[in-house]
Amino acid sequence: MCGIFGIVYSEEKNNLGECLMKAARRLVYRGYDSAGFVGISEEGKIDLRKDAGKLDKIAKKLKFQEIKGKRGIIQLRWATFGIPKKENAQPHVDCKKRLVSAHNGNVVNTGELIRELTFKGHSFMGDNDGEVVCHTVEDFFNVDHNLGKSIMKAYRILRGDYSYIIADSKEKGMFAVKKGSSLFLGIGKDFTCASSDLPSILPFTKRYIPLYDGEFAEFHSSSYKIMSLETGERIEREELIYKGDISQAEKGGFPHFMIKEIKEQPRTVNGIISYLNDSGEALEYGKQIRKSRKAFLIGSGSSYHASLMGSYFLNRIGRKFSIPVVSGEFKELFGNTLNKRDSFILVSQSGETKDTINVLNYLQERGFENLYSFVNIPGSTLYLRTKKRFPVMSELEISVAATKTFLNQAVGFVGLSALIGGRNDILKEISLLPGLLEETIGKSEVFCENLAEELKSSLSIYILGYGPNHPAALEGALKIKEVSYIHGEAYYSTEFKHGPLALIEEGNPVIFLSSREDSEKIISAINEVRVRKGKIISISPENSSIRLNSDVFIPLPYENYTMTPLLSVAVLQLLAYYLSVKRDIDPDTPRNLSKTITVD
Ligand code: F6R
Repeated sequence: MCGIFGIVYSEEKNNLGECLMKAARRLVYRGYDSAGFVGISEEGKIDLRKDAGKLDKIAKKLKFQEIKGKRGIIQLRWATFGIPKKENAQPHVDCKKRLVSAHNGNVVNTGELIRELTFKGHSFMGDNDGEVVCHTVEDFFNVDHNLGKSIMKAYRILRGDYSYIIADSKEKGMFAVKKGSSLFLGIGKDFTCASSDLPSILPFTKRYIPLYDGEFAEFHSSSYKIMSLETGERIEREELIYKGDISQAEKGGFPHFMIKEIKEQPRTVNGIISYLNDSGEALEYGKQIRKSRKAFLIGSGSSYHASLMGSYFLNRIGRKFSIPVVSGEFKELFGNTLNKRDSFILVSQSGETKDTINVLNYLQERGFENLYSFVNIPGSTLYLRTKKRFPVMSELEISVAATKTFLNQAVGFVGLSALIGGRNDILKEISLLPGLLEETIGKSEVFCENLAEELKSSLSIYILGYGPNHPAALEGALKIKEVSYIHGEAYYSTEFKHGPLALIEEGNPVIFLSSREDSEKIISAINEVRVRKGKIISISPENSSIRLNSDVFIPLPYENYTMTPLLSVAVLQLLAYYLSVKRDIDPDTPRNLSKTITVD
C-alpha cells in the first residue's frame, strides 16, 4: 500500500531531496506505482514533483535529489482510487497551493466528497482520495485558519481507514494523523519525522513513537505533541528505542532482498526458538489456550498458510481443537457461532492487514477477551491493540513476498503445540532447525536454479502435499505466483485425482512434497501423474521409490512430521526466487502487490 514520510528540520537543507530519497527507498517494499516529493523552503515556497512510474526513473527525470528546503513530504502510491497517473500521484496541494498533504489507506466516501467539495468551488486535478483529504481539510481551514482544528473537523467527515501527513506552507511544522493505517513519529537531534513505516525512519533515528488510531501529532524540528482527534486533549507517550539490527533493511551484497531473507532463515529462526524456550510467556499462553474451547488461527495469505499448518500441529502434537481461517472470511464462516471461551490468534507479519484488523474489530466490539496477536512489527496496529502478543521475531522483512516471517510463524505454531501438548521432545527437536535449514538451503540452491531454467516457460506448476505438506504446497504455489507470475496451484495430494488430473498433459510439471510417513500415499499420487506423462519433481527425505519415480528429486536432510514441511517451503522459496530472476522480474517488488495491505 502507499507509504508516506514527512520531515521537519531545524534548518534549510540543500540536500533535502537526498534525505527524502533515503526514506523513499525504504518505502519501496510496500509496493507502489507512482512517486512524489515535495520540499518546503523557510519562506514557504513549495517545490512539488511527482509522476506515475518507478522511483528511480521518476527521481532521475524530475531531479528529486535537487530538492531543497526545511520541510519535506514524500509518498509512494499504490493505486486504489484513480488510475496511476501524474494527477493522482501524491503529495497533493489545496486550491490555494498553501496546504500540502500525502495519505495512506482509503477514504471510502471519496466520490461523495468530490461532488460536495466541487459544488462548494474546490477544483480537483484527479480522482484520488488523497486529494480529497487535502481539500476536506482546506474547506475547514478556509474558515478556521487553524490547521489542528481543521484536521479534527475533517476527521468527522473522512470515512475509512487512513493516515496522512499535512503541512501549511505558510506556518512552521507539520501534522500527522492516524485513523486505521500505521503511523510512527521519529525523533532526532535536529529533526522530527513521521512515516507509515518504521523502516523508513530507521536510517534517520532509532527513537520512535507509534501513534494510535484517533490520534494526531503536531511536530516541529525539536518538539512534538500528540493529541486526540476527538477532543484535542494532549496525550503523553514514552519514546521507544528500536533495538533490532538496522542493516536488515540493506541488501548486504545480495542482488535482492528475497534471496537475502531466504538465506537469513537459519539465523532468524533462532528468534522464535529462544522465545519459545526462554520467555515463560509462550508457556503461559499455551496454558491459557489449552483451557479454551476452540482455538481460531486467523490470517491472510502466507499468514493464513502458517495458521493452516499450525492447525495440523495443534491437532497432532497439542491435541487441541483448532480452526484455521482466512481473515476476510472469518465473520461469514464463524461470526454467529463463537463462544466467549474460544481463543483467537491473529497472525500477521505486518500487523496492519485490514482483513485481519477487521476480525480484531469484530471480536473486540463483541467483548471477546482471549485475543492473541502473532505479529512481526512491534508498534503495528495489531500489536498495539492486543495485550497478549506472540512475537514473530524475524527482524525486518523487506521483500514483498513473505519468507522468513512465514517460517517463524510456522515454527511458532510447532512450539505452541508442543507447549500445549507437553511435548518437550518436540521443543528440543526444534533446536535442530537452524542447522537443517542451512543444509537444505545450501544443498538445494543449485537444484532450484537449474530447475527454474527448465520450468521458466511453464504455463502452470502444480504442487501437491498431504497433511502439513499441503499448507507448505500452498505457500510454495503462492510464492511462485507472486514473484514469477507463473500460475502455481497447490492441491491435497489425495484430491488431485478428483478432477485436476484432467489437466495433466505430457511434460506438465507437478511438484510432490513428502515426509517419510506419507510416502506410500505420495507414490500413488506420483504414479497417477506419471502415467499421464507429467513431469515429476519430488522434494522429500531420501526415499528410493520416490527418487526412482521422479524426473527430478530434491533430497531433504531430515524426516518428520513437523520439520519436513518447513524444509520443503525453503526449497520452494528458492525455486520461486530463481523463476522470478530467470523471467527478468524483480522479486522484491512484484507487480500489483504490496507488502502491507491496508484496504478491504
Ligand atoms: C505472501 C504475502 C501476503 C501476506 C498477506 C498477509 O508472500 O506476503 O500473502 O502474507 O498479505 O500479510 P500480513 O502477514 O502482513 O498480515
